[in-house]
Amino acid sequence: MSNPHLVMLGCGRMGGALLAQWLATGAWKHGVTIVKPTPELPDGVRQHHQIRWCADLTQLPAHPAPSAVLLAVKPQTLPQTLPACAAILGTDLPYFTVAAGRRVAFYTTHLGARARLVRIMPNTPCLIGMGMTALHASPHATEADTDLADALMRAVGETVWFDDESGIDIATAISGSGPAYVFYFMECLISAAIEAGLDETTARLLVVQTLHGSSELAYLSGDALAKLREDVTSPGGTTEAALSHLMHPDGQLRLMHDAVQAALQRAREIAASAQ
Ligand SMILES: NC(=O)c1ccc[n+]([C@@H]2O[C@H](COP(=O)([O-])OP(=O)(O)OC[C@H]3O[C@@H](n4cnc5c(N)ncnc54)[C@H](OP(=O)(O)O)[C@@H]3O)[C@@H](O)[C@H]2O)c1
Repeated sequence: MSNPHLVMLGCGRMGGALLAQWLATGAWKHGVTIVKPTPELPDGVRQHHQIRWCADLTQLPAHPAPSAVLLAVKPQTLPQTLPACAAILGTDLPYFTVAAGRRVAFYTTHLGARARLVRIMPNTPCLIGMGMTALHASPHATEADTDLADALMRAVGETVWFDDESGIDIATAISGSGPAYVFYFMECLISAAIEAGLDETTARLLVVQTLHGSSELAYLSGDALAKLREDVTSPGGTTEAALSHLMHPDGQLRLMHDAVQAALQRAREIAASAQ
């Protein structure tokens, strides 16, 4: 790519967080034009010299020509922005989209059957460079397109690619929504700690650091998670007493399956209604 230039449609919570990380890590060292109605730019973005802003695509300078587009607007904004993208930016360049729930078929309606599209489903730990991103490429995305998308998202965490687009729905229910499940688990454990007699500050410290340390141990260890759990569980001890509740047939496993099925069903409903 000679003189690469990224055009970003929208730069809010997710788009702004991704761009700030790419600029901070050097994953994107080139020019960026942010297209959004208001001139306010997020922290970590506005101070970079290679950033330009314009209010809408009709004001986009002719030079430099865009080499890639990132769609970071709300899914409901896309029907009004994609026709302008096709008319002004053209369709023979990669379009990366973080919009939840819109399938490839929706984009090809506006960008044509040969659209070079990459769907990107990040999660909020991307904000601190520890994200999990699921990706899916349309048939006409080139290897250079997928390499660029992968490099950008690896700058903010780990990536996994799905050949089958339905994998994005599953990833939405697991890694996309997953941070909320983990935060709720922490809230539950903090509540139990407070009921047992701790103050809130101490309870939060014990719980958050336990989750942090356990996640890091699971990430770094080659051991099965069941082995790591058994290492903490002495026969007749305190952990076993607690796990007899969590591992009850109607316990955490059942709840987790039901919760993920509910998320998956909702992801499919949203995708179907958005086409
Ligand atoms: N937040 C998450 O955790 C998360 C996770 C995965 C995926 N996503 C996806 O990320 C996308 C953005 O979500 P968000 O949370 O970042 O939303 P957001 O904070 O509301 O940002 C939306 C951005 O779109 C801009 N915008 C609005 N109308 C526009 C238009 N007509 N043309 C160009 N830009 C326009 C807004 O500009 P102004 O600031 O100037 O109004 C703003 O910068 C969504 O599609 C969502 O599905 C979000």
